[in-house]
Amino acid sequence: MENELIGLKNNAVSLILEATTPQELEEIRVQFLGRSGTLTFAMKEMAKLPKEQRPEMGVLANEVKAVIEQAIENAKASLRTRHKEKFVSEKLNKIDVTEPGNKPSLGHLHLITQAIEEITTIFERIGFARVRYPEIEWDWYAFAALNFPQNHPARDDWETFFIDQKPDVKKGPVVLTPHTSSGQIREMSSEARSHTAGENINIRMLNIGKCYRRQSDVSHTPMFHQFEGLVVGKDISISHLKGTLDYFVRSYFGEKRISRIRPYHFQFTEPSFEVDVSCGICLGKARLPDGQGCKLCKAGWLEMGGAGMVHPNVLKNTGIDSIKYTGFAFGWGVERVLMMKEGIEIDDLRTLYSNKMEFLEQF
Ligand code: PHE
Repeated sequence: MENELIGLKNNAVSLILEATTPQELEEIRVQFLGRSGTLTFAMKEMAKLPKEQRPEMGVLANEVKAVIEQAIENAKASLRTRHKEKFVSEKLNKIDVTEPGNKPSLGHLHLITQAIEEITTIFERIGFARVRYPEIEWDWYAFAALNFPQNHPARDDWETFFIDQKPDVKKGPVVLTPHTSSGQIREMSSEARSHTAGENINIRMLNIGKCYRRQSDVSHTPMFHQFEGLVVGKDISISHLKGTLDYFVRSYFGEKRISRIRPYHFQFTEPSFEVDVSCGICLGKARLPDGQGCKLCKAGWLEMGGAGMVHPNVLKNTGIDSIKYTGFAFGWGVERVLMMKEGIEIDDLRTLYSNKMEFLEQF
């Protein structure tokens, strides 16, 4: 059914693109969307599908219908323009300059791109440099060098997407990177390789990229974005981490918001923390001015993501002297912080990537 619907859409769109008159477009419309049109027929057939498949196919069929309708509208508009141009050139010098022009529809940056730009600007102000690292990565960068034991559940194919490729003798299998922490290894290894003796290592990295995990529900998409901060140098301590977190939280969420860190566990940081941000509705009080409990947060706080001090094993794995240098790292979801920002409510995270104009045009 799915293939049939997609085939039908492709077929309709290619006919629409070839049409040269409004009459032809109308015939195509009737052929697909008319009362006994092909799509109308397919939609009726859907009743025969098993019940659990129906909603998904229904959504797809409606999308196909919308695409065909839009393609016909666009084709009609471009035929009208072409017709007008011909008319104008035939009656040379008789251009009506007062006639309103065709207004092209303007797009804008995607909601997530806007968030990425904002996050980048905030960190650039305090000296972080934005970098990008591969989305397809060897196990070494995604797991092994980050101190993950061989049997860690994240290395299972129920958690991570594996690329069907022969593993590298040293770097292991190839995966779609499940977190931006792989960038920590790339950054530290290249810094360790290139830094000149006598000079101190000094990293302030902001790695923002796409990550992939086997998950799809209202609060998870298989592809999502993370932003990862990494600072390595001499005497870098937890207070630097906490100060950076507070700075980000104030800049991104607003002056009144603060962060807190709770003990947690990650393979590649020690100690590790989970970072919370004070709730923007009750401002960390868990109660509203009228005495009612706050519905948005858990006891005044919202969970933001992970952080910690770079594990000495990770420093060693990348060739950095773990006695001389220390560092901190944090990694959070772009979608997650965006949703937590006051005033933005998205019931289903997957809507972000559904390409629905009604949704996207709001931002
Ligand atoms: N990579 C971790 C995750 O995806 C987050 C993290 C990054 C934790 C950096 C600590 C330090 O959950």
